[in-house]
Amino acid sequence: MNALKLTQTITGLLADQKGLLAMDESISTCNKRLAEAGIAQTEENRRSYRQLLIKTPGLKENISGIILFDETIRQRDDEDVPLINTIIKSGIIPGIKVDLGTQELAGFTGERITEGLDGLRERLNEYASMGARFAKWRAVITIGKELPSRNCVEANTNALARYAALCQESGLVPIVEPEVMMTGNHTTNVCFETTRYVLENLFDQLYLQGIALEGMILKPNMILPGLDRKEKKSAASLAENTIRCLLESVPAAVPGIAFLSGGQSEKQATKMLNALQIMAGDRLPWTLTFSFGRALQHTALQIWKGKEENTIFAQQELQHRATCNHAANMGLYDGTTEKRE
Ligand code: 13P
Repeated sequence: MNALKLTQTITGLLADQKGLLAMDESISTCNKRLAEAGIAQTEENRRSYRQLLIKTPGLKENISGIILFDETIRQRDDEDVPLINTIIKSGIIPGIKVDLGTQELAGFTGERITEGLDGLRERLNEYASMGARFAKWRAVITIGKELPSRNCVEANTNALARYAALCQESGLVPIVEPEVMMTGNHTTNVCFETTRYVLENLFDQLYLQGIALEGMILKPNMILPGLDRKEKKSAASLAENTIRCLLESVPAAVPGIAFLSGGQSEKQATKMLNALQIMAGDRLPWTLTFSFGRALQHTALQIWKGKEENTIFAQQELQHRATCNHAANMGLYDGTTEKRE
């Protein structure tokens, strides 16, 4: 394992309080988002849309890393340059989602297991040769009646740890994402207990598989009530819960924690990030940052609508959300940050 290489990538990703843009939706998820915005679900539209995001002027002022999907890492821009090279040239670090999505977990109704370990070593080596410097694997944990099961959590965290070991072997920084889903009507407290259980289990597995904790980034959910729960809690109180949960379960050797947005609205996710940074102050052993998908892209995609003439306005919107999240990542976000010049 090349520890220096991993550290250099992590230092770049966590530099200057910038964050990550997750644009690694699978073909089916990307198609779903295109359909919601009234855009035809074609390979060309997926390519154009990803090119639009990557070529947003000034993106690197706020974004340190971009997570790609397999289809995108093989696509080229309008000038016939591989999109990954365009990212590297712009001064942003490219990464790649390497899991193959989730399937129903046999014998455990309502639960899912993430697939993709078979042949992963070869795929990681190929991605590294194309220029990727980090990878991502997402496990999905659902809260429900008597869920998650112990088996679901252990099967998923074991897969995450085996993925992380293979990444470190190939010189790619593993972003380890155990997402406890927001779907459902659970309380904040249930989210807290479930997330802590998952994280404790995860770090047991990472330890068993011999992962160098200083060579990985954790990508967790924030501690929030279920989407169907009408629970009114302030961002400060939710941030307090989130920090307490992480302090109780994430070893100090981990250098960075990059939150997913998980179905929060764009402004809600930015507000939470800001509250987290304010609550954190300088008492945390790790750097906190963001790795948002929907919370960076949602409005930009609605503005684009698949039309060339809207490209510049969609890019302005992405740059605006990236600026707001960068401000929030310094605890400097307020109503005035949302105002356009
Ligand atoms: P969201 O921010 O939309 O949750 O996406 C982040 C991500 O990478 C999910 O795997």
